[in-house]
Amino acid sequence: MTRRGFLGVTAAAAGAAATGWIGGAHLLGPGLPGLLLPSRLPLPRPYQVPLPIPPVLDPVRHEAGTDFYEITQRVAELDIIPGVRTPAWTYGGSFPGPTIVARSGRRAVVRHRNELPEPTVVHLHGGHTPADSDGYPMDLLLPTGDAGGASHAGHGAGGLARGSREYTYPHEQRAATLWYHDHRHGVTGYAVWQGLAGFHLVHDEEEDALGLPADDHDIPLMIVDRSFGADGSFLYPRADARPHSHGVAAPYMNGVLGDVILVNGAPWPVMPVEATRYRFRLLNASNARRYRLELDPQPPGGGGLVQIGSDGGLLPGPIAHDALDVSPAERFDVVVDFSRYRPGTRIRLVNRLGSGSTADVMCFDVTGPAGESRPLPERLAQGPALDPGRAVATRTFHFQLRPDHGWSINGRPYEPGQVLARPRLGTTEVWRLISDFHHPVHIHLDPFQVLSRDNRAPGRFDAGWKDTIDLHPSQAAEIAVRFTDHPGTYMIHCHNLEHEDMAMMADFITE
Ligand code: C2O
Ligand code: CU
Repeated sequence: MTRRGFLGVTAAAAGAAATGWIGGAHLLGPGLPGLLLPSRLPLPRPYQVPLPIPPVLDPVRHEAGTDFYEITQRVAELDIIPGVRTPAWTYGGSFPGPTIVARSGRRAVVRHRNELPEPTVVHLHGGHTPADSDGYPMDLLLPTGDAGGASHAGHGAGGLARGSREYTYPHEQRAATLWYHDHRHGVTGYAVWQGLAGFHLVHDEEEDALGLPADDHDIPLMIVDRSFGADGSFLYPRADARPHSHGVAAPYMNGVLGDVILVNGAPWPVMPVEATRYRFRLLNASNARRYRLELDPQPPGGGGLVQIGSDGGLLPGPIAHDALDVSPAERFDVVVDFSRYRPGTRIRLVNRLGSGSTADVMCFDVTGPAGESRPLPERLAQGPALDPGRAVATRTFHFQLRPDHGWSINGRPYEPGQVLARPRLGTTEVWRLISDFHHPVHIHLDPFQVLSRDNRAPGRFDAGWKDTIDLHPSQAAEIAVRFTDHPGTYMIHCHNLEHEDMAMMADFITE
């Protein structure tokens, strides 16, 4: 691989930026928003390290109907690239952070303590969460011992906290793969890149009854791209090298792309598997990179990735895919049946939108004997679809680059307190989302259903309850959304974290 110096790339990118940020993206091909930031150390070889499984967090205590957890956010030195150490911002010392395993209808209270050098904000992505615990971008958790105050902080229902604070999750929602990550105004891209992300799973009885692969056959896979400095640190082009600065350097306005693919924090790992069914909860936690994931080789007959769930939980029935397009923040819950391969086969999970080092993700070695596994049920989750015929309002949101403002929604860059919509709780609305470019659009509080793309049927990856939709360039999609309860201020934004930090975000208020 060729690796150019950071300065050389920055200068080249600055040239591209001068002709427009979108122009910069085209240098990398149509599937890739963003600009590659090359690592300054030799990249390790793929398939050398075992797949790590993030630790499951034990509650510190229980009370009737509630589990209490504690997480300390702190810098930890991680072993990611052989021979160097990576100082990361972590939840509890690991990247990914510890997995919270919850039950539908059972409350969790998570006390976060901030021992990092900067303020943070915790958001449970996909959580049906009261506004004061949703992680409004101004509701800062200041570090322990921080004497100064951020002047604009604490605008949301959650307010400003110092040292530690509690987030309450009622879990009045279906079984689903959620994740938690930092959400600070203007700094989310940097903070997540430094390591602030973890899984948060919700189980329920409907899921229990299906006999899906469970325990050590139910594996969360957090896929990210990262770049490393010569000393092993995570490289990130902050707009200003000083701490507390907001945003990303101008050439990277389209998104920061790394050249190392990490799965659960390890570069291109290997997982030994038995010749049986596994459930994989795929999460693209990358800042900007989109993936087209495919098994190589495909099993005989194809359709190796059998989707059983999406962002908001289980689908009505399984859908077999040859490949999955996954934009930032999307989750695809899939079952892979390794008994379709001969023992001894190495199966790579590849990224057809990548090239060079980013075309590989991880691999599975079919080692063990055929294990017991029940066939997948034909019907998974029940529950009616939203009826767009009953929508009480239609709203339009334009996701665009504005020469004067940068990334914006309906022409406005994000400003805390500026409200773009006031949906009524308990009613269904149709939202029309229009994009100029790749924008993975995410809505807080409740999942939605995709009705159409460009006046045609939804796409192959739009099934089920979604909270993030992979909008393609020059596209108009319609979704049906219904906010059930919890009045307050929530967010709609692009989940390309550089777009989000550079203001492609808006408040809406449920009432
Ligand atoms: Cu995953 Cu508003 O965030
Ligand atoms: Cu975007």
